[in-house]
Amino acid sequence: MIDTHSHLFNSQFNDIEECIARCKDNNINKIVLVGFDNETNKLAQEYSKKYSIFYPTAGIHPSEANENYEKDLNDLYSFVKENKIYAIGECGLDYHYGKDNIEYQKLLFKAQIELAIKMDLPVIIHMRDATLDTYNILKEYSGKLRGVMHCYSGSYEMAMEFIKLGLYISLGGPVTFKNSKDSKIVAKQIPIDKLLIETDCPYLAPTPYRGSRNESSYVKYVASEIALLREMTLDEIDEITTRNSEKLFRI
Ligand code: NI
Repeated sequence: MIDTHSHLFNSQFNDIEECIARCKDNNINKIVLVGFDNETNKLAQEYSKKYSIFYPTAGIHPSEANENYEKDLNDLYSFVKENKIYAIGECGLDYHYGKDNIEYQKLLFKAQIELAIKMDLPVIIHMRDATLDTYNILKEYSGKLRGVMHCYSGSYEMAMEFIKLGLYISLGGPVTFKNSKDSKIVAKQIPIDKLLIETDCPYLAPTPYRGSRNESSYVKYVASEIALLREMTLDEIDEITTRNSEKLFRI
């Protein structure tokens, strides 16, 4: 099983060795370790050199978008030249906390999509309260783009539109929540060869740990819920999502 979106470098994980051991005990053998700014991009590298379970990425999160975006981008460009990464991101659009920096967000997002295309890497896309703008930007690159809508929480109809653009849909902890109707429909109905699983830890812990610290081993609860919804076995979901993740990230 693979956790395709983890931030296990977060300072909440002072028990990182135990976290990794719990993954191995649960047959989780690969973790995509996702950076979101200069500091965490470096941490993802450091952790991946130390622990072979990790596959690092590098990106700039939309919440980092400001008038210094050109410098941040240049730092990212030199970083990806010097370091082995498996994806660009997370990057995207987030209007949840306001739209003050919306133009910078769009510039950063487009630049990172173009970087991913140039490097032949997948993009990890963060989208919050910005569905239409995200879709319209991605559509400009349709046919050239590979990537994943991470922790997808939108409708089934929009999921199908993103899939048409060449993207995968990744589901996390919220699919296990009783009130996540849309996510359950997405889990049940999208083509299974486009489905990935993730934790986004330390955030968004699945039931039965909702509200507490999330960790990569909890991805099994996401897989179990999807198995239940699709009336398949956990082993089948494990096998299929593992294959999908290996194909997308080339890991
Ligand atoms: Ni994340």
